[in-house]
Amino acid sequence: MTKFYAFLSLLFVTISLFALLVYHSILNISSLRPIPSDAIPGKTAFQKQACIECHTVFGNGGYLGGDLTKIYEKKGAAALKEYLVHPPILTGAKQRRHVEVNAEEAEAIVAYLRFLNTIDTLDWPLDSNNRSHSGQSLNDVR
Ligand code: HEC
Repeated sequence: MTKFYAFLSLLFVTISLFALLVYHSILNISSLRPIPSDAIPGKTAFQKQACIECHTVFGNGGYLGGDLTKIYEKKGAAALKEYLVHPPILTGAKQRRHVEVNAEEAEAIVAYLRFLNTIDTLDWPLDSNNRSHSGQSLNDVR
């Protein structure tokens, strides 16, 4: 009888270890990392300014402006900062100026966008999906 319990215990331990191994490999826990501290002020500013009302991040948010997940890669730090500090009048039916933020906030938001750009999205969004239907893009401004 003792042998039977010893066997049961061994079985339990083996199954537990195997489950843990599978859990670790599926979640690839070593690749999960927290948001870097230099991206936090920008995330806060992004939320405070409600950028998500018009823009999407990872496809979530408003559809008036484009998706901003990979915008850093496309436009670069300097152009993004310039856009936010000296925003254009949006064309099309909107005819209003884009949200303006001060230099400090713009710097922070750009750091947040730089962080978003480092997250692997398996080539999403496709280029053609990353545009709104109308309005002015950064390329049209100058
Ligand atoms: C009231 C709606 C609205 C809000 C709020 C808003 N945006 Fe925009 N944004 C737009 C529109 C519309 C465009 C033009 C999109 C286009 O032409 O592709 C735009 C363009 C941009 C662009 C240039 C994108 C490109 O492809 O050239 C950036 C960067 C940007 N917004 C960032 C932000 C950030 C950061 C915030 C928050 C501080 C913000 N926006 C808040 C509507 C908004």
